[in-house]
Amino acid sequence: MEFILYEVNGAVGTITINREKALNALNSQVLDELNATLEAVDLDAVRCLILTGAGAKSFVAGADIGEMSTLTKAEGEAFGKKGNDVFRKLETFPIPVIAAVNGFALGGGCELAMSCDIRICAENAVFGQPEVGLGITPGFGGTQRLARLVGAGMAKQMIYTARNIKADEALRIGLVNAVYPAEELLAQAQKMAGGIAKNAPIAVRNCKKAINEGLDVDMDKAIVIEEKLFGDCFETEDQKYGMAFFLDKNKEKVKEPFQNK
Ligand code: CAA
Repeated sequence: MEFILYEVNGAVGTITINREKALNALNSQVLDELNATLEAVDLDAVRCLILTGAGAKSFVAGADIGEMSTLTKAEGEAFGKKGNDVFRKLETFPIPVIAAVNGFALGGGCELAMSCDIRICAENAVFGQPEVGLGITPGFGGTQRLARLVGAGMAKQMIYTARNIKADEALRIGLVNAVYPAEELLAQAQKMAGGIAKNAPIAVRNCKKAINEGLDVDMDKAIVIEEKLFGDCFETEDQKYGMAFFLDKNKEKVKEPFQNK
């Protein structure tokens, strides 16, 4: 891999987009390598992912403008599909993904962060969808995910004006969950990921599925999705152990790690 670093620390995997010279802009090769990295994650061992960008300045400064500049209509559509396919894989990835946004998250970078389950950012983070200033629409899911995350009115304002926003505004509109000093960001992401990884993995995965799939349908169908995924947890070893541990009155006992079974 030329542009992706992947590191596993306990049950937490960290994917770093590593094309610092171009502020981690997404060209076809980066997208292909991100796809291959996700394919290779060992889901028996890893329970949560962190996604970040290399360097102190940028998470991802967008899709690669040089590569896009000469595309035909058909090639533009195919490039959009390439990004959308990888981002959808991330969004529906079986385990949670935390975006640790360490600087610019513009265009495809904002869209990449929005494909993750949770976004936290550094104080120097900048978010935006600058595409209309380049003569295109957001193309890796921005028109859809931004509207779902911050509401149609705010998404339309950000997309039509192409105005970038800073970390504090991203927090205020609900685009990120928390803002940290840059030097603390990865440690905070690790802490959150570690907390997620400690919980029963089958239950966590089912929660992700229930929330994602439930949001796509009406409430009557959504609660049926929840019922099935709730029922699916019963008879797992982790459910039996987790509940037995709670019911055990011997409070001296130390809770064992969940087994993912
Ligand atoms: N594509 C290709 N190269 C990029 C890039 C991008 N999106 N963003 C930055 N780079 C490159 C620059 O060309 C520059 O390369 P050279 O050193 O070879 O000249 C290098 O990264 C450093 O960038 P700057 O010198 O511009 O750094 P800066 O600090 O002056 O500015 C910035 C930083 C404000 C983020 C500026 O780089 C910028 O505006 N980048 C483009 C942001 C953007 O418009 N993103 C959206 C792209 S469209 C898109 O993503 C479509 C979609 O939805 C799929």
